[in-house]
Amino acid sequence: MWQPKAGVTLPGGWCATEDMLSPRSPATHLERCDTGLVFTMAHRFPALTAEQKKELSEIAQRIVANGKGILAADESVGTMGNRLQRIKVENTEENRRQFREILFSVDNSINQSIGGVILFHETLYQKDSQGKLFRNILKEKGIVVGIKLDQGGAPLAGTNKETSIQGLDGLSERCAQYKKDGVDFGKWRAVLRIADQCPSSLAIQENANALARYASICQQNGLVPIVEPEVIPDGDHDLEHCQYVTEKVLAAVYKALSDHHVYLEGTLLKPNMVTAGHACTKKYTPEQVAMATVTALHRTVPAAVPGICFLSGGMSEEDATLNLNAINLCPLPKPWKLSFSYGRALQASALDAWGGKAANKKATQEAFMKRALANCQAAKGQYVHTGSSSAASTQSLFTACYTY
Ligand code: 13P
Repeated sequence: MWQPKAGVTLPGGWCATEDMLSPRSPATHLERCDTGLVFTMAHRFPALTAEQKKELSEIAQRIVANGKGILAADESVGTMGNRLQRIKVENTEENRRQFREILFSVDNSINQSIGGVILFHETLYQKDSQGKLFRNILKEKGIVVGIKLDQGGAPLAGTNKETSIQGLDGLSERCAQYKKDGVDFGKWRAVLRIADQCPSSLAIQENANALARYASICQQNGLVPIVEPEVIPDGDHDLEHCQYVTEKVLAAVYKALSDHHVYLEGTLLKPNMVTAGHACTKKYTPEQVAMATVTALHRTVPAAVPGICFLSGGMSEEDATLNLNAINLCPLPKPWKLSFSYGRALQASALDAWGGKAANKKATQEAFMKRALANCQAAKGQYVHTGSSSAASTQSLFTACYTY
């Protein structure tokens, strides 16, 4: 490895000092030869110990090992209500519990395709019909338990209906309690919209900063932060415009994460795939989506990030799988695991199969298992579309201005 010798002048008039060459030195600094100014790097005040970093990077890697991805089952009460309404089931705590019990009690082999499950607060403390906590059922399957930490959007005044995400107040205390209760990762979804004057630089900066504050607080409490800056698919913009905006958003997010001293090896990114807007008349192939997506990621996401787990953003189950497969076959360098963290695209056909009836448990679990396996294959670039897709799996799951 190249190392400058002490006293050697570096580009820009900087000069290496003895400190910089000492691996034990806590302060890495460069000295400006011509002015005598000292520039001290933040390394002097480490944010995390070596043990904390090791724990965080091991959790992150476990979640995305061998084509595994994440089930985002963290729909808030209101969002779950919309899902249940579609299948004409009442939105009660018991109905929400019953559906989730069916998902979580699926055969143990689910742990070959699902590495983590994100829960909503209510679900973390719910139990199955035998009185066993859901979180213990998941852990016994070897699945990492996560929690939704953001608390919804608040308007950014003076913008075209843009938002910033709430939830930083008391976040450290919440994270500490969740860690004690067996949670190992968190999720925070920031929403950026493509429209007239959107996303504004204010919305980009504000959301990037909140994501970085959240990520730093998570890591201090032993939780791997899933960083989710979602450019939502509402609008009639084309693929190229979505790519441009996604790059600007991701570049701002990684600048903020660096400013906040977030340890990237102990994070996961959950971005949108680069797609045309829902109302765009031009249609694009999975290969075009893949090329635009990987190009945007390649330009903005450091190789230190262990995994990128896409959200499904209203794509049909089948499209979400086909696009992920094409992304993994894209002939550009891909230094990260490219996997999934789907909500709608892992649960839509399971919800349809369930229809609120306990007797449909087997069919519900089979539908869920089928999507999980298909996405695991896609995360390795090995998915083969059989051509016999169910109606539920090809149906668009788009909802305008989607909230979680
Ligand atoms: P979808 O896959 O339904 O877009 O949701 C994933 C998610 O967790 C959004 O925050």
